[in-house]
Amino acid sequence: MKIFTTKQELKDYLSTIKAKNKSIGFVPTMGALHEGHLSLIKKAATKNDTTVVSIFVNPTQFDNVEDLKKYPKTLENDVKLLKSVSCDILFTPSVEEIYSEKITSEKFNFDGLEHQMEGKFRDGHFDGVGTIVKTLFEIVTPNKAYFGEKDFQQLQIIKKMVQKSNLDVKIKGCPIFREKDGLAMSSRNTRLTKEHREIAPLIYKILKKTKKKFGTENVTKVNKWVEKQFKKHPLLELEYFTIADEKTLKTVIIKESNNKYRAFIAVFAGEIRLIDNIRLKINN
Ligand code: PAF
Repeated sequence: MKIFTTKQELKDYLSTIKAKNKSIGFVPTMGALHEGHLSLIKKAATKNDTTVVSIFVNPTQFDNVEDLKKYPKTLENDVKLLKSVSCDILFTPSVEEIYSEKITSEKFNFDGLEHQMEGKFRDGHFDGVGTIVKTLFEIVTPNKAYFGEKDFQQLQIIKKMVQKSNLDVKIKGCPIFREKDGLAMSSRNTRLTKEHREIAPLIYKILKKTKKKFGTENVTKVNKWVEKQFKKHPLLELEYFTIADEKTLKTVIIKESNNKYRAFIAVFAGEIRLIDNIRLKINN
């Protein structure tokens, strides 16, 4: 595996790959890699000639300074994991290399997707994500890029950014990877206390029951049921639960049979904010 820390060296190397008409699959990450990331990398490797992974903890997408400071950094282990899944190239630039002196985001218009769910609670988050993903796409110029569906709103926003900026890259969404007990894999899980880690799988249990209820009950009833479940568990603090249209991400009150829906949730387990989602069917 080749490791690059500067844009120019990476670009020069990738231009030799492109000159041979080889396709590039790209997986952007913030490191602290887990099985979920590895599944994206394995997918990229089977579908492309060359696989590039970036590890960059992007400061502009954090609305909370403490969260940025405490974001797990495990580069040595990440490198081992990347080698184990035959990643070809790792790009791990410094903040200065990406942003020079100006650590700021571009302002995007994602046609309203950015104002839903996470957008209501994490000020400027999606401008930060859009800025870094666009920058990385310009450096790596991948044919395909892979993102997990755990961050489903991010995935839709990146698709929108690619469409609006006319970038020549196919965005591939990949299923959520879960721990055996159902907790969606996330780099932040390592920061959970023992008691919060024990209770956290309840989030997915509630989502699975939501899926069942959505088949037969109206949305208001489902929403109330979810809120009630969290009130019983003081270790988990529900930030939001919403059933939304997969395309517009707008909250749904009345279900219509032609639309696709998902339930989205954000929960604080102590200091750690966890998100998850599940696809819903009208008639289970
Ligand atoms: O999902 C993530 O890990 C990050 O938001 C991403 C896409 C790597 C951008 O920093």
